[in-house]
Amino acid sequence: MKTQPFKGRVVLITGASGGIGRAAAKRYAEAGADVVLAARRLPRVEDAAREVASLGVRALPVRCDVTVGEDVERLMRETEAAFGGLDVLVNNAGQGLYGPLEAISEAQLRQVFELNVFGLWRVTRAAMPLLRRRPGAQVVNVSSVLGHRGLPLLGGYCASKAAVNAMTESLRAELAAEGIRVLLVSPGLTESEFRENRLHAEGWRQEAIPLKAMSAEDVATAMVRASLRGRRDTVLTLPGRVMVLANRLVPGLFDRIARRMAAPPKKKDA
Ligand SMILES: NC(=O)c1ccc[n+]([C@@H]2O[C@H](COP(=O)([O-])OP(=O)(O)OC[C@H]3O[C@@H](n4cnc5c(N)ncnc54)[C@H](OP(=O)(O)O)[C@@H]3O)[C@@H](O)[C@H]2O)c1
Repeated sequence: MKTQPFKGRVVLITGASGGIGRAAAKRYAEAGADVVLAARRLPRVEDAAREVASLGVRALPVRCDVTVGEDVERLMRETEAAFGGLDVLVNNAGQGLYGPLEAISEAQLRQVFELNVFGLWRVTRAAMPLLRRRPGAQVVNVSSVLGHRGLPLLGGYCASKAAVNAMTESLRAELAAEGIRVLLVSPGLTESEFRENRLHAEGWRQEAIPLKAMSAEDVATAMVRASLRGRRDTVLTLPGRVMVLANRLVPGLFDRIARRMAAPPKKKDA
């Protein structure tokens, strides 16, 4: 990015130790922003922060598990001490869950909701005082194309991201009068460690998906562009856009396609 439209701004990204979050940290830094990088694996967050700092901005690595209230409070205290306020919060930390709703365990479903939904809510709530100090502040919530349409074998994850979409809409309205914008970015299939980090119902593994994945860097570029333009809704990858649109226009047809994706239940590997 040649110009630096985010110069002097502070961006906090959760899940910045890898994948989309780390790529987003670099893209915001290239656009001039100082960046707070948060995730659980501190050595990886520190490594990402070094790379971000090499771009000539300030980078603050913080070890933070967004499912733990004290970690989130400390994250905000460290952000305040270093920068005094926050211009953009990117709620990116998230995890997948694979398997039919009947086969996933209650513990797995709770774990995914604890991170994808409660984590996002917890971080956003704690960040509000810092966001309120900066005019034109933003919250960028990372959802998924699967938050717009439930698919078989992905129901737990889809439900968590649908909750993110609903919270985003509610928060957007709640904060509009204060001039704080709330954006939704919904990636499609993206190259990252997401599939390795995903939870699986016992005995269930997904075969390779015959779709071209987007790079995490391209997702990050689209995110920073949306952030710059204050674009409320960004759906990524061509198949992702087609799915979201087709589901809106011809939901019955999409139900039939989804049924074919579910049957026969032959993906068991154990
Ligand atoms: N990859 C895809 O195909 C895809 C598609 C659509 C949407 N998305 C969404 O994009 C976001 C980023 O995913 P990704 O593809 O970059 O996956 P990833 O490579 O697995 O990265 C996930 C990130 O979240 C962090 N994280 C996990 N649990 C955490 C916790 N409890 N507290 C703080 N950080 C935590 C991880 O770091 P630590 O382990 O160090 O904490 C890591 O940095 C997620 O919300 C995901 O749902 C991904």
